[in-house]
Amino acid sequence: SQPLLIDKYGRQLTYLRLSVTDRCNFRCYYCMPEEGMNFAARQELLSFEELYQLSALFCSLGVNKIRITGGEPFVRAGIMPFLRKLSQLPGLEEITVTSNGSLNAKQIKTLQEIGIRKINISLDSLDRDRFFKITRRDSFEAVYASIFQLLESGFEVKLNCVVAENKNVQDILPFVELTKHYSLAVRFLEEMPFNGGDTFQPPQWSHREIYQHIANHYPGLQKLESEPSSTSVNYRVSGYAGSFGIIPSFSRTFCGTCNRIRLGATGELRTCLYGPPATNLRDLLRAGHSQEQLTNEILEAVSHREQDGFAAEASHGQAVHASMSVLGG
Ligand code: GTP
Ligand code: 5AD
Ligand code: SF4
Repeated sequence: SQPLLIDKYGRQLTYLRLSVTDRCNFRCYYCMPEEGMNFAARQELLSFEELYQLSALFCSLGVNKIRITGGEPFVRAGIMPFLRKLSQLPGLEEITVTSNGSLNAKQIKTLQEIGIRKINISLDSLDRDRFFKITRRDSFEAVYASIFQLLESGFEVKLNCVVAENKNVQDILPFVELTKHYSLAVRFLEEMPFNGGDTFQPPQWSHREIYQHIANHYPGLQKLESEPSSTSVNYRVSGYAGSFGIIPSFSRTFCGTCNRIRLGATGELRTCLYGPPATNLRDLLRAGHSQEQLTNEILEAVSHREQDGFAAEASHGQAVHASMSVLGG
């Protein structure tokens, strides 16, 4: 029988995050510069055939959940037929998508048909002007409308909101208020250094400040049970339909139970968001390595997996920080 992906700390990797493109139609300040980046050429990207083969290999090694990320997954031509094929992969229990929400109604219908039921939408402000300053695109209305279309179509929707001083602190409480009548989960994230640039200041709003700010306005928050591998600590305002969560993405208090492995759009395999790539599976695949050789490479990468693949320069130094759109969320 096939081996499983278990690291030396006993953490089993069952959740693959698959970046299908490094491109995006937005330019969020925390992700990439205004002018965009040096995006990968088409032939450098894993083809859909390669993405499928590697997904199948990961599923044979115990992965049961795949999250499709980017960049913005829906800007890649051919994504829907790929998702349809992926949804039939044996052993794969769940496909989820992280998107900026500029997706159109037609995709919502197809996602439903394919059986994708959960989607995470990035939304950092409920105010059109602040949204524009954050994403450098005037798409607030479209994104906001898509959230309600998804909810009406029966999707489980989570919103990701990166909190930053001078950007969207005013939006924290309105986001919590949004969960009063809508059954959605809003998650507040600490900003991380993956912005495609060469500067980064540790976030002024850590998970503690975010929690304190909300708790000051809502005494008696209920703490909710979450999956052990969850990135967020989740709460509900008593009587509200939805919930909110806080993701210490910079503080990284959840590494001990991390079950995630990442495949970048050009084939880099990462066993930690904060660590260097362990290998490039695209290059091995294209060099004709067998399934067995690929399996051994993946097992090797997992055997070197650290508790927190912290690269000092990634957090503080002057190095150019890879963008989330390259790392795959
Ligand atoms: P669910 O599967 O719905 O729980 O979503 P998720 O939180 O895994 O995925 P999503 O794409 O919505 O990611 C939200 C944010 O969580 C990311 O942008 C990161 O900020 C953070 N995050 C996810 N995985 C990791 C990780 O392995 N390390 C760190 N530091 N942050 C992570
Ligand atoms: N810091 C924190 N979150 C980020 N995201 C992208 N770049 C960063 C960053 N530098 C978020 C997006 C999306 C999620 C996958 O990652 O908002 O919701
Ligand atoms: Fe695009 Fe997401 Fe990066 Fe914003 S965070 S620029 S939506 S990939």
